[in-house]
Amino acid sequence: MARFLFTLAFVICPCVFSLFASVIQADESANELTASRRAENVSALLDGLLEGYDKRLRPNFGGPSVPVNISMYVYSVGPVTESQMQYTIDMYFRQQWIDERLRFTGDVTVLSLNSEMVDRLWVPDTYFVNEKSAKFHTILYKNTLIRIEQNGNILYSTRLTVTASCYMDLAFFPMDKQRCSLTMESYAYSDNQVHYYWIPSGPIYVDEAVTLPQFQFLGSSQRANTAQYYVGNYSQLIADFYLGREISYYLINVYLPATLIVIVSWVSFWIPRSSTPARTALGITTVLTMTTLIGNAGSSLPKLSYIKAIDLYLEMCYFFVFAALLEFALVSYYEKPSFKEARQRMKERAENGNSPASKSSGSPSSVYSVDKRRDEIEITFVNENALKEANLSRAEMINRGGARRCSYIRAAERGSPPAKPSSKSPSTPWRDQHDMTKCEEMCGPNCADFGEVGIDPGKVDMNSRRFFPLVFVLLKIIYWAYYVTVTSGGLEDLIAEVEQSS
Ligand SMILES: *[C@@H]1O[C@H](CO)[C@@H](O)[C@H](O)[C@H]1NC(C)=O
Ligand SMILES: *[C@@H]1O[C@H](CO)[C@@H](O)[C@H](O)[C@H]1NC(C)=O
Ligand SMILES: *[C@@H]1O[C@H](CO)[C@@H](O)[C@H](O)[C@H]1NC(C)=O
Repeated sequence: MARFLFTLAFVICPCVFSLFASVIQADESANELTASRRAENVSALLDGLLEGYDKRLRPNFGGPSVPVNISMYVYSVGPVTESQMQYTIDMYFRQQWIDERLRFTGDVTVLSLNSEMVDRLWVPDTYFVNEKSAKFHTILYKNTLIRIEQNGNILYSTRLTVTASCYMDLAFFPMDKQRCSLTMESYAYSDNQVHYYWIPSGPIYVDEAVTLPQFQFLGSSQRANTAQYYVGNYSQLIADFYLGREISYYLINVYLPATLIVIVSWVSFWIPRSSTPARTALGITTVLTMTTLIGNAGSSLPKLSYIKAIDLYLEMCYFFVFAALLEFALVSYYEKPSFKEARQRMKERAENGNSPASKSSGSPSSVYSVDKRRDEIEITFVNENALKEANLSRAEMINRGGARRCSYIRAAERGSPPAKPSSKSPSTPWRDQHDMTKCEEMCGPNCADFGEVGIDPGKVDMNSRRFFPLVFVLLKIIYWAYYVTVTSGGLEDLIAEVEQSS
């Protein structure tokens, strides 16, 4: 019994299977038949459409202008080239219009066709006004589609890569935000023949995945305009793309190194003044490094006639590094032995308690002091005006070397008190201005010995250690506060700015 069933199954199953197979085959051939018939039907339809169609004439020829609705899908932005003031954008560029001549009826509601058909139809001769170069994509075949609806609505989409000029204001570089526009209009058809509109909903769609090196894609906006030319008025559409520069690259590669170089240049103030080679090398190296840094920072940028934010910072750093080198020049100049000796003598005198100069009441420009030990009179000429301006006491002024000295051995009038012009004593050899001038003349080479003390280099170094960092930090705070405030505007401000200007 079991065996019989088994045989039956073997006989019946193939039969059933072949039956099914033949049914499917018949169905397929029927499908094939309808498909080929439909193709024929559509071919005939297309032939019918193109019969008497003149692609040289625009729709509504002689009538009102053709409204062409435009939208774009941006799938890549960049690179942005500052040196050439241009940017590149990849997109699907879509134009929609109605061509009454292409109305049809039939089974199909939409005819989706490729570039073969495009070549036979009228299409708007849209071009990009600020384009520098652009290309269609033709691999593997022209990346173009045209879709015709029964009522004559046409959708024409092409894939484009457009490199367009974009004027960039780099005054705030690298904290700048840029607006790059793409302007499109018809080349042949003026405003009253072809009029462009943005499609009402989402005319510009930018892929979320759009990323640029160095930039952040902020957003886009669109405008319409009418351009007036000698040949007529042309309808124009403008797409604006907003880009904000990423400062981090410049922070790491320019701002930080420049700051560190300035800090390194301050090390010089702690190196002993006698180590001339060390301080010179440090000064010159930092200056040269700054020069290189400035050169590198501007290498990818156009040679602009205005100062950029980054230039301002680098020039500031350069100035600081240079000032540190100059400070060393000053210090080493006053390290000269003659100044040193004069200072030494001054110091000795101060220690001996003879330094405080007695104030002269009569003469506004001189101070007398008597060195009892050496038996000589020293006259210090102080510029009264400078004294007032500097708001210093006489003693301070003298200590700082802001006075000229003249000494005269008192041998001639031994026993007489130090001469004061006000006393008008006949025994005093110097009574008035005339005598002081004489003293100046007489003391001659002695003046040098007591005279120019110069600036104390130690003090200069000491003050530089505090003064340089303080001023640098202060300037940095002002710099960042200013630029951060000025460049803080968001996308809304940028768009508002455009709307205001247009
Ligand atoms: C195409 O098909 C439609 C509907 O099926 C029919 O009305 C029309 O006549 C056909 N056209 C041609 C050219 O065969
Ligand atoms: C073009 O856009 C307008 C609205 O701005 C709309 O009324 C019209 O139907 C659109 N035309 C096409 C062909 O899409
Ligand atoms: C262009 O537009 C301006 C202002 O709207 C108008 O004065 C001028 O006549 C127009 N030109 C043409 C050729 O239509």
